[in-house]
Amino acid sequence: MSEALVWRDAWALGVELLDAQHRDMVRLINQVLDPAAESAVGARLDALIAHLRRHFDTEQVFLRAIDYPLTDQHCREHALQLAELVDLRRAVAGDTGALSAEDRAGIRQWFFNHVVAEDRRFGAYYRRVVCGATE
Ligand SMILES: [Fe+2]
Ligand SMILES: [Fe+2]
Repeated sequence: MSEALVWRDAWALGVELLDAQHRDMVRLINQVLDPAAESAVGARLDALIAHLRRHFDTEQVFLRAIDYPLTDQHCREHALQLAELVDLRRAVAGDTGALSAEDRAGIRQWFFNHVVAEDRRFGAYYRRVVCGATE
């Protein structure tokens, strides 16, 4: 069974820059999960971590700009995830390590719990409170 994530338009927030970054994130996660590229997993994790740092910074500026009530909690979740990925990166240091099935499942699970669930919560807040949408 392929572990690759396939982007769905239903995951879009309606915020162009953040949606573009989420689509890039899916691509970078898939590169990390790709079983054919085990020897390059360290470099691929580095690319994912660098992307997440930029993305989280962008998203956090957005959350503060729209006065999202759960901003602090959301930022803490970002920091926690970065710390976990940096730990994982250390564990596979030297580009010789491979990700365990548990590590791979954890990355996928984080994507669904955070990007598909938590990020969409602020997306709904943005459309309803800031844009006045009635959905
Ligand atoms: Fe996000
Ligand atoms: Fe987020």
